[in-house]
Amino acid sequence: MTDWTARIRTIPDFPKPGIAFKDIMPMLADAEAFAAAIDTLAAPWRDARIDAVLAIESRGFLFGAPLARTLGAGLVPLRKPGKLPGPVLEARYALEYGNDVLQVQADAVAPGTRVLLVDDVLATGGTLLAAQVLAQRLGAEIVGASVLMELAFLNGRSRWNGPPLRAALVV
Ligand code: PRP
Ligand code: MG
Repeated sequence: MTDWTARIRTIPDFPKPGIAFKDIMPMLADAEAFAAAIDTLAAPWRDARIDAVLAIESRGFLFGAPLARTLGAGLVPLRKPGKLPGPVLEARYALEYGNDVLQVQADAVAPGTRVLLVDDVLATGGTLLAAQVLAQRLGAEIVGASVLMELAFLNGRSRWNGPPLRAALVV
């Protein structure tokens, strides 16, 4: 299988000085690398009977949609405020500076639906915890969480106390 990890590059001092940014864009642009990354993300969940992938705006959409297709599951976007019509549930979470909010349509899935939470990166873990709160409030059965990349030095995993959390790549 193509080494998709080789197509992720490190950009120094982005978006601000001192940050070494992991740039996934070259990997997405490479057909074989992108396909291999999705296969790696999907592998732990192929027999998990996932009904719906809950994908986190915005970079989580890039992986959530193909992963849903690969697993034969539906796709439920968890969005930034003001984007989804109708009654929504929301969860607030902390960023390095300030707060942000994720929303989901209140009728997105029926209670008991088997869901997988998906994002591109696990950093401090705040975003994934907000997604977990939304899934719980939907009454979904959270089978697990899947990220392309875990930034281990930020220790987000230590804040996660849910079902299995899998990272396709740990850096
Ligand atoms: C980034 C990344 C994850 C989140 C991880 O999203 O895509 O969603 O941060 O950080 P955390 O584990 O510390 O919460 P960002 O909010 O920068 O926006 P984007 O996905 O819209 O680019
Ligand atoms: Mg994001």
